[in-house]
Amino acid sequence: MSQLIVQSGSPLHGCVSVPGDKSISHRALMFGALAEGMSHIHGLLPAGDCLATLGCMRALGVEIELRRDERSDGFSHAEAVEAFTTNLDVIIHGRGLRGLRAPAAPLNCVRSGTTMRLLAGMLAGQDFDSVLTGEPQLLRRPMRRVVTPLQAMGANIHDTDGRAPLTIHGQPLHGSDHHLVVASAQVKSAILLAALFADGTVTVRQPGPARDHTERMLKSQIAPRRIDAPALSIEGRVVTLHPTAIDHLEPLNMTVPGDMSSAAFPLVAALLVPEAAVTLSRVNVNPTRTGLLDVLATMGAEITLDNVREQGGEPVADLKVRSASLSGTEIGGAVVVRMIDEFPILAVAATQARGITIVRDAAELRVKETDRVAVVVEELRKLGAQIEPREDGFVIVGPTPLHGAVVDSHGDHRLAMALAVAGLAAQGETVIENAECITDSFPGFVEVMTTLGGQLQVEA
Ligand code: S3P
Repeated sequence: MSQLIVQSGSPLHGCVSVPGDKSISHRALMFGALAEGMSHIHGLLPAGDCLATLGCMRALGVEIELRRDERSDGFSHAEAVEAFTTNLDVIIHGRGLRGLRAPAAPLNCVRSGTTMRLLAGMLAGQDFDSVLTGEPQLLRRPMRRVVTPLQAMGANIHDTDGRAPLTIHGQPLHGSDHHLVVASAQVKSAILLAALFADGTVTVRQPGPARDHTERMLKSQIAPRRIDAPALSIEGRVVTLHPTAIDHLEPLNMTVPGDMSSAAFPLVAALLVPEAAVTLSRVNVNPTRTGLLDVLATMGAEITLDNVREQGGEPVADLKVRSASLSGTEIGGAVVVRMIDEFPILAVAATQARGITIVRDAAELRVKETDRVAVVVEELRKLGAQIEPREDGFVIVGPTPLHGAVVDSHGDHRLAMALAVAGLAAQGETVIENAECITDSFPGFVEVMTTLGGQLQVEA
């Protein structure tokens, strides 16, 4: 896919499911690898970012079987992204906490920040050396946020002017107490992964409610040395791991819930397109991920959560949404981290809301796959939006009638999909250049949207 052509004017109807959660898929591959025994993961997200993690884990000596495709062993990254548009069933042959092998070459994290930051933690305490690298887009992103706390644990890890490649000389780590400056699940998870290999207690104090999938997964896996000495404790925003209390990690047997960050696109499309009624089944509604639902509710959206249940240690629900007339709002503070990946699509919703929407406290957007403040402003303006950048967010005045135009993804999957949704709400035809990056997080996006009745067409 290189161009995505979107026509407006069709109502959206029906029930679809979105692919597995990206954050949980990364973690299932990593924590399954460190477990003793075989983990069975159903519904793993076959997106570019997770396949990057899969490739790195294999390079670390972990056998991973992919069901549903004969080429599952020995595929190239590009082939795999092409081949798997549905969820994968995966068997991970766990190697135990001390079973990883030295990689023969630098580990390629492709464009995935989660892969690089979490692996930095996992590899710091090994008895071998490794190098983490990736594509130019990833090599531009800040890495000192993981390097500094890992060094405080005694790690011998070095960045390149604050960025990747990262060079890791594996060595013993010690206990430590971390006060995080940024509310980041990636940094927290890197520290907790490193903590598994430390010789003393590690505490992480978070400034905000970052996603907690690592804690949930670890909690389900830890086999303690003594039943009366818990290895992991969570009190508010403070997470403490006592690695010496862990005997081993149990394998996982789980179904990955649907990704809220992917559901956000058909969800907002249904709000904006007239006469829409859409159900998104089995979406992860972990409270650390539902900031967008809270903000849309204050803007006037009625989104119901039906059939709330548990899947893979996480709450899931079927989301029901209809077209709505939205009002502008102010977004800042603790909700920001709970919807950090949803700001490109929130900006699209705000262009159609009556009044002013102000986003603040979101300077993190500037160091995501792209500078998401700059690229969202640049591309939405091409469609007619009234949007101004701020250092830590943006201001949008609505409602503005959007008109079709030629826009660019800048290689950012979430921007590409947000622009596609904007195209569904615009007058005329919208062409999104460089749309192939959508498969970094949401293979099947075009199929899901066309199943609902949207007119989207891929041009090679
Ligand atoms: C992620 C955490 C978030 C998020 C990213 C995935 C994770 O990043 O933006 O898409 O899986 O831990 P930060 O931890 O940098 O906020």
